Amino acid sequence: MHTGIKVFAPASVANVAVGYDILGFALEKPGDEIIARFSDTPGLRITKITGAKGKLPYEVLKNTAGFAAQKMLEHIGEEGRGIELEIHKKMPFGSGLGSSAASAAAGVMAVNELLRRPLTKRELLPFAVLGEQIADGAYHADNVAPSLLGGMVLIRSNKELDVHRLHLPKGLYATVIYPHVQVLTKDSRAVLSDQVSLNQCIQQTGNIAGFIVGLYNSDIDLIGRSLQDVIIEPQRAKLIPHFYEVKEAVLEAGALGCSISGAGPSIFALSANSLIAERVGEAMTRVFTNNKIENQLFISTINQEGAILL
Ligand code: HSE
Repeated sequence: MHTGIKVFAPASVANVAVGYDILGFALEKPGDEIIARFSDTPGLRITKITGAKGKLPYEVLKNTAGFAAQKMLEHIGEEGRGIELEIHKKMPFGSGLGSSAASAAAGVMAVNELLRRPLTKRELLPFAVLGEQIADGAYHADNVAPSLLGGMVLIRSNKELDVHRLHLPKGLYATVIYPHVQVLTKDSRAVLSDQVSLNQCIQQTGNIAGFIVGLYNSDIDLIGRSLQDVIIEPQRAKLIPHFYEVKEAVLEAGALGCSISGAGPSIFALSANSLIAERVGEAMTRVFTNNKIENQLFISTINQEGAILL
């Protein structure tokens, strides 16, 4: 049997309140691991999947990691090479934490590392986005780009994949809670109206611009004032039980801002230091636990590395 290499790609928080489909950041943990190794059988195959409770397909073109890796291999003319993938899901899916994006990012990263890096991480991005697209049908990089590249990422255009890592002030912490309720990304996208009023547009563009200026100037108060989503959150909040109760408790605990992580049901908050992030975590947990909803909490700095070779 050939020896393999193992990669890790982290979970991510998409939208970050003010940037629906165009803003996201990576967490340190959780994430997915993929092992890639050469095989004597030509072509790409998925030989093992763990942690997915039988819910993920082994068929390469139906699997986000497999599809992404296959498209990348075709691009560099290596689709005839025998390669096996083992996918180890180490994060919840359908959580709003970018699970399919982490698999897609890990898929391209694993194959690229195995082949001794024919492409840069930046060049892997389009293939990882294609992989994630088979999960929710839409082409957006706000989970995949941070999962692959790390950091807080702005996607000026999803179509052109005009992607930019943003400056981060020191000490920013994310607290994310995943309540165990089901919210499918497809449904969460379907509830959104395609009508936005001029007033909403003015507020939201002010907030995203303010958020980015706040990041660049390390202006924590401006970041806090700007973390307000007047378009998406009001439409999706009803899909997440106790959302506004959590948000109120989180802001009271001192968070800079709080909103839905990606398509939900996870909820994220940003805080100015680790102590506040922990208090925020306690506040979040209390609401769901008091309401007898199982939950998982993650406290993390913003992951600057993205996908890595382990
Ligand atoms: N921007 C996406 C959404 C992220 O909110 O639907 C989840 O795929």
